[in-house]
Amino acid sequence: MHNKVVIITGGSSGIGLALAERFGRAGSKLFITGRNATDLNAAVETLKTKGITVAAFRADVSKEEDNKAMAEAAVRLYGTIDVLINNAGISMRALFAEVDLAVVKQVLDINFYGVLYATRYCLPEIIKNKGSVVGISSIAGFRGLPGRAGYSASKFALNGFLEVLRTELLKTGVHVLTACPGFTASNIRMRALTKDGTTQGDSPRAEEKMMTAEECADHIYRAVVKRKRTLILTTQGKLAVWLNKWWPSLADRLVYATFAKEANAPIR
Ligand SMILES: NC(=O)c1ccc[n+]([C@@H]2O[C@H](COP(=O)([O-])OP(=O)(O)OC[C@H]3O[C@@H](n4cnc5c(N)ncnc54)[C@H](OP(=O)(O)O)[C@@H]3O)[C@@H](O)[C@H]2O)c1
Repeated sequence: MHNKVVIITGGSSGIGLALAERFGRAGSKLFITGRNATDLNAAVETLKTKGITVAAFRADVSKEEDNKAMAEAAVRLYGTIDVLINNAGISMRALFAEVDLAVVKQVLDINFYGVLYATRYCLPEIIKNKGSVVGISSIAGFRGLPGRAGYSASKFALNGFLEVLRTELLKTGVHVLTACPGFTASNIRMRALTKDGTTQGDSPRAEEKMMTAEECADHIYRAVVKRKRTLILTTQGKLAVWLNKWWPSLADRLVYATFAKEANAPIR
């Protein structure tokens, strides 16, 4: 990854920031994006103090024009793009029967359409370099999770899109990775949208018991280097994917029971 140009959408926090540090340590040239300029600048300062070559670009992945501008700016600065990590994402927590449908749409606009836009505008350079397109999906892209209708739908859609892309690009030498973290400590649950679109402000799960963002990023980094097809993380995540394939009715009951135990769970 030395000297490779790596774009990470949502690189100012959590898994994205940890990925920037991991690729940066390997000598990659980073281009990170996000909506909040203060968070982006803080991330750049932290990365620069570690000797990492990094630039930030303010962009909202759900806006097509921002993705076009992002790809153009990265090429202007570094000359090309080798790796695109579609990491920017948000979550939600509300029952489908109660949620304002605008919340579901917002989650899909960011987690799914954001990936389509960013990938489309970065793809010509990535094809030239036989580089990588990475989608940070989730276990929720294999197994529907209660209270996360928009989130699970966005990640299932993402998995389907990445499979299509990999197949279409089979003869081009481009690598496509579907990376599916399990529960990972980050800001995602604090920032998750509730049924009326306000942010949750707190995590309903024990963040300290989760995989760290750094460990998650290290797994993803190695999967990119090895040009892996799919990465499924955490023991619980692997079990959920396996059980859902072979005994889905039991998976329904276990997933229900697990999510009913969350603080202020929308299911009882
Ligand atoms: N943490 C987990 O348990 C977990 C598990 C499985 C999968 N994932 C996936 O991992 C990815 C990263 O999540 P995380 O846990 O690291 O969350 P996080 O700490 O909340 O970070 C999310 C990042 O995405 C950015 N972002 C959000 N909306 C954006 C938009 N519209 N345009 C551009 N950037 C945007 C945020 O910056 P701004 O808000 O400033 O834009 C932030 O930098 C997501 O795709 C998530 O679905 C996370």
